[in-house]
Amino acid sequence: MKLLTKKPISVLIAQANEEGDHTLRRGLGWPSLTLLGIGGIIGAGIFVLTGQQAAVNAGPAIILSFVLAGVICAFAALCYAELASMIPVSGSAYTYTYATMGEFFAWLIAWDLILEYGIAAATVSAGWSGYFSRLMNSFGIQMPQLWTNAPYDFTGSELIQTGAILNLPAVFIILLMAGFLVAGIGHSKVANNVIVSLKVVIVLAVIGFGVWYVNPDNLTPFIPDRVPASGGEPGKYGLLGIPAAAAVIFFAYIGFEGVSTAAQEAKNPQRNMPIGILLSLAICTVLYIAVAAVLIGLAPYQTLNNPAPVATALAAVPGLKWLTLWINIGVTVGLGSTILSLLYGQSRILYAMSRDGLLPPAFSQVNPKTRTPIWGTVATAGLAALVGGLFPIKILGELVSMGTLLAFVLICLSVLYLRHKHPELPRSFRVPAIWFVAPVGALGCAYLIASLPVATWPRLFIWMGIGLVVYFGYAYHHSRFHERKLAGAE
Ligand code: ALA
Repeated sequence: MKLLTKKPISVLIAQANEEGDHTLRRGLGWPSLTLLGIGGIIGAGIFVLTGQQAAVNAGPAIILSFVLAGVICAFAALCYAELASMIPVSGSAYTYTYATMGEFFAWLIAWDLILEYGIAAATVSAGWSGYFSRLMNSFGIQMPQLWTNAPYDFTGSELIQTGAILNLPAVFIILLMAGFLVAGIGHSKVANNVIVSLKVVIVLAVIGFGVWYVNPDNLTPFIPDRVPASGGEPGKYGLLGIPAAAAVIFFAYIGFEGVSTAAQEAKNPQRNMPIGILLSLAICTVLYIAVAAVLIGLAPYQTLNNPAPVATALAAVPGLKWLTLWINIGVTVGLGSTILSLLYGQSRILYAMSRDGLLPPAFSQVNPKTRTPIWGTVATAGLAALVGGLFPIKILGELVSMGTLLAFVLICLSVLYLRHKHPELPRSFRVPAIWFVAPVGALGCAYLIASLPVATWPRLFIWMGIGLVVYFGYAYHHSRFHERKLAGAE
């Protein structure tokens, strides 16, 4: 059946090796891949959503939300690493699913990944706007509210207008980062390494300076009493607040798979990709738990539901006010680089889909000079700028988390399926205790999906519905594998 056509792994690898002049450069070793991972992971999740979710869902128990999300993410990451070590070409979960479950599932996942990367870039841009406005304030420049906030929001499932016109800084930063990518200067190894180091320094500074000012009173009650749902708003706090917050801050962990989207640019990908994925995730998990603990310890969690909660927490402590400006500068620069990695990841996925005929050929044209897929970058940036300019970070973050969690369920199932169906294929990295890790990873992700606000579901369905229209309207008729153009295609 054409819908379930599989792309043979041998074709995948041959394609990766045979693209001559048009292949992407192969220059990244494991340290660069790990930094690429950290660069993609640390972003608006930790700097914005942590404070907001502590305020609206978990209270100080947000620390446990980070542990829960981190553990579930680690299970999915192990599965990711095994697939990445078997199928070291760009395209991430899309490519793996094409090789394992077939084209239709691959399409669904790819469409889902557009949420993960493209909309995640929009989410981070909304976070950037918050810190940028705060930074301008500290220089005495008052940014107009009408032009720095999202014009739309949701209460429950009802779309409302906020009175703002456009989140202009969010649009601006997306376009700027896309410009860097198109010019081929955005992904220079040196620039990436410097900015990632900067992000790690910011995080360490918050922990290192902040830990001395933690007020234990702010951490009690650790799990505030449950507040029941009312007026279209979901309930909060209590034990259930922990997974509810974990599902949203799951966003903070997204980005390690960015490593796998750079497979074609990796040296010795079978060895270096699993290292890059797992190491970047491990480092970020430890940092996140520490930052969450310090942040909550510095200021009452109820005060953190705003666009720049880390700045708020630091400004609340007289001994740390001096640090606020530096953190604002650092976060503003750092979030720019997160957007860059997300746009980069998305353009690579579009590249892989286009190469398979599922999207128009323009998306796989790589500029020979800069080696950047220009149209994929432009299309992703256009979508991200639009969405980032119109919607607030919380709504976008929920949607991205849901899309990503769904993709991770499929990844965990794919790795199990492949172990069963193709045990003979070489795997330079094998998930330990696969029959435990993969099912628990899939169930954990499914549980977090169920913990997200119900109103997120219809948004995902609408998006996936559009995806089906594009699949049956275009991709199905242009798939290279239906036409059996490639030798060895099943
Ligand atoms: N994990 C990335 C962030 O938190 C996407 O911004």
